[in-house]
Amino acid sequence: MRVVVAGSSGLIGTELVATLRRDRHEVVRLVRRPATAADERTWDPPAARIEDGALDGVDAVVNLCGPAITLNRLSGARKQAIVDGRIEPTEVLAAAVAEHRIPLLVNANAVGYYGDHGAAEIDEATPAGTGFLSTMCTEWEAATTAATEAGARVVTLRTGLVLSPRGGLLGPLRTLFSVMLGGRLGDGRQYMPWIHHEDEIAAIMFTLTNTVTGPVNLTAPNPVTNAEFTRVLARVLGRPAPWVVPKFALRAVLGTELVDDAALASQRVVPKVLQDNGFKFEYSLVEPALRSVL
Ligand SMILES: NC(=O)c1ccc[n+]([C@@H]2O[C@H](COP(=O)([O-])OP(=O)(O)OC[C@H]3O[C@@H](n4cnc5c(N)ncnc54)[C@H](OP(=O)(O)O)[C@@H]3O)[C@@H](O)[C@H]2O)c1
Repeated sequence: MRVVVAGSSGLIGTELVATLRRDRHEVVRLVRRPATAADERTWDPPAARIEDGALDGVDAVVNLCGPAITLNRLSGARKQAIVDGRIEPTEVLAAAVAEHRIPLLVNANAVGYYGDHGAAEIDEATPAGTGFLSTMCTEWEAATTAATEAGARVVTLRTGLVLSPRGGLLGPLRTLFSVMLGGRLGDGRQYMPWIHHEDEIAAIMFTLTNTVTGPVNLTAPNPVTNAEFTRVLARVLGRPAPWVVPKFALRAVLGTELVDDAALASQRVVPKVLQDNGFKFEYSLVEPALRSVL
């Protein structure tokens, strides 16, 4: 396949591009700077501009764009940047997919779509939440509409916390635990959907070659509570995690939205579409997954 990847310099994009090349697919990387390598083409999402020829003969577009949502209080300007850096590129690529009659768009999204559902199991049919992150994820999915209306197969990747040795949340967590500052968040009963980075990439490859369409949860089949995740991480790192970070302290540092929509939101997400379609996870349980990446 000839596959265009946007957001290819990120945690997931770097590994996906390497896997696509390993499997002998042709990769074109859209970059937001002058192209320098032979497989790069320039684009400018805010100006809705893509270099001529970049989409010729393309079988699929994979969009992994999005400014990182770091653990800092969300100011109005940061919120706008988080939204714009996802919606604009998606709208531009969906319109390009429609115009060039490209048959497939695989677009990033996140389990943040669902908001807090307590201990209830969440699959792809579960409705969206109502907080900032849920609203943003809903708009992000809606931004693919032009591609759907043009008849393309559109897959939205509702990804959980990616466990990777190369980045993401595990790095800062490891640092906290190594200086004995590890601990559960709030009462620890909130479910955390996670996925091993190899399964994340394998699942994206699966969506490229399978016929699945619409939202797909990219999360391991066994989500764990924050308390369980904390216990297992402490065991794997050989460090105690004696602390409990109370809700009020989290809110004071991170602000209400990141805490209520993310850190303390309970999301017992299951990968129903992947499993119904025969996808096999390499890492179903959190302890072997953590041992493999740490
Ligand atoms: N990692 C996770 O645990 C996780 C979980 C759920 C959802 N996701 C979503 O999956 C996608 C990929 O995740 P990732 O971990 O690989 O993210 P990442 O490492 O932060 O990389 C995201 C990429 O987005 C591009 N980007 C950044 N700001 C942008 C902007 N303003 N406009 C257009 N593109 C911009 C950059 O690519 P270029 O510089 O190459 O253009 C960057 O490499 C993101 O949308 C993320 O929100 C990730």
